[in-house]
Amino acid sequence: MPDSNSSRRNIDPDWWRQAVVYQVYPRSFSDHDGDGLGDLRGVTDRVPYLRALGVDAVWLSPFYPSALADGGYDVDDYRDVDPRLGTLEDFDEMATALHNAGIKVIVDLVPNHTSDRHAWFREALAAEPGSKARQRYVFRDGRGENGDEPPSDWQCAFGGPAWERVPDGQWYLHLFAPEQPDLNWDNPEVHEEFRDILRFWGDRGVDGFRVDVAHGLAKDLSEPLAAAADLHEELTLRGEHPLWDRDDVHDIYREWRKVFEEYDPPLAAVAEAWVHPTRRGRYADPEGLGQAFNFDLLQAAWSAPGFREIIERNLDEVAETGTSSTWVLSNHDVVRHATRYGLKGTDTAAGQAWLAEGGRAEDVDRERGLQRARAATMLILALPGCSYLYQGEELGLHEVGDIPDDQRQDPTWFRSQHTRKGRDGCRVPLPWQSGGTSYGFGAGGAHLPQPDWFAEVSVQAEEDDPDSTLRMYREALRLRRELQGPEELSWEGQDTDVVHFSRPGGWHSVTNMGAAPVTLPEGEVVLASRRLDGDRLPPDTTAWLVT
Ligand code: NOJ
Repeated sequence: MPDSNSSRRNIDPDWWRQAVVYQVYPRSFSDHDGDGLGDLRGVTDRVPYLRALGVDAVWLSPFYPSALADGGYDVDDYRDVDPRLGTLEDFDEMATALHNAGIKVIVDLVPNHTSDRHAWFREALAAEPGSKARQRYVFRDGRGENGDEPPSDWQCAFGGPAWERVPDGQWYLHLFAPEQPDLNWDNPEVHEEFRDILRFWGDRGVDGFRVDVAHGLAKDLSEPLAAAADLHEELTLRGEHPLWDRDDVHDIYREWRKVFEEYDPPLAAVAEAWVHPTRRGRYADPEGLGQAFNFDLLQAAWSAPGFREIIERNLDEVAETGTSSTWVLSNHDVVRHATRYGLKGTDTAAGQAWLAEGGRAEDVDRERGLQRARAATMLILALPGCSYLYQGEELGLHEVGDIPDDQRQDPTWFRSQHTRKGRDGCRVPLPWQSGGTSYGFGAGGAHLPQPDWFAEVSVQAEEDDPDSTLRMYREALRLRRELQGPEELSWEGQDTDVVHFSRPGGWHSVTNMGAAPVTLPEGEVVLASRRLDGDRLPPDTTAWLVT
């Protein structure tokens, strides 16, 4: 193992507070061995690219052994690498290469559920109802005379019932796919196991964790189980929902914090918790995970007052707990922001609706979408706090909306009786070159079909184009490093359609979200999301200025 704890001691413990974190979806990033699936050596090959891009950390979506029933979020073994993606040695090599390039490593932890191929679940299936092995999961007898009705009418996140029957007649709970049985966090053995998994990766030198479904672990499953119709949002707001965002989930994170503090500097963590904004702070508590994703801008429509309100609220929120904010526009679960912003509605719901209607490229104003995406990215990169980027957004990639139905992989598609297209369109393997096999993704094919337009948005094509999105991201990250100071922001300007703020030291970010050009404020323009002509800022454009 490359990184002993002692070699980490010079690291600023606050490195995560204003970092740019780049999300790698390993199966679709870069394929070293040419089997059509991205792998860890593929990531190592691209470390120079990541370094040139200027990111501070890489977050890897799950690379663990998995049958890929949910893109790797169905984990067979938390302490290993999927053989198709490499080995633990490959992981070590990758982590060393990233660390040598000054890039931190964040791994994805999936504690709400294992896969149905995990040793514990196999053991549970082989064991008797009521056995110790079954108590690691949520097994129940069914309702009805023969127990052949599920224990409750709950639906899973991908559609269909949240209970699956096993041959001896019992049912187990899966809030996601049936291949993702929920763990029973009332069982101390589960707590112990996950503390040990944290240490396994901490000892291997990772710098932090992204915690999947952080709001789901603690559950109240006392009988009688509530009916789905009674699971109201008010319960969530009181921390009393039986399944989501319960107050007692934070006891788990307080335990984990003790493990994080065993390392120097302490391991960092960010919660993926789709909770009401008023309850997000608990996940970001310094005694808990320390940071939580704010998905508010990702879900917002294109509107300056809307953006300002979200920014203001989030900065107030983080001030309360002392954490730093997190800004996200795209990830592996949502329609890419370049596409969303090219639709009539521009929020995530509009993205889903567009996909449902066929995801046709002709229904997207791709040029406007890209201009807005570039402007929004520059805006978030100027905000105090952390920015999370999703692989391919630095190329301005659009969603691949028209994947043939017979090539879809996402469980959402299968579980919704083919009514919801799911998330494959943002997970298509990246184009590194303008031609050749799988656009340079690897020597084999790509596990999801790549469209012809990838030729124009490949890394190779964009390297050579001074106006490309890739060149804009690189320059933005370089300037951000240079200009970024304390986590403070002052609102500037009066125009309702413009988001204008400054950071200490005279760094201004101005985004015109209205329909008409506006006059730029005083100052030297150091970067703009498109070429400027004179002192006017066109619609859908961000400029950074220094004064
Ligand atoms: C959130 C992940 O981001 C998503 O991809 C996954 O399907 C669910 N959690 C279940 O693990």
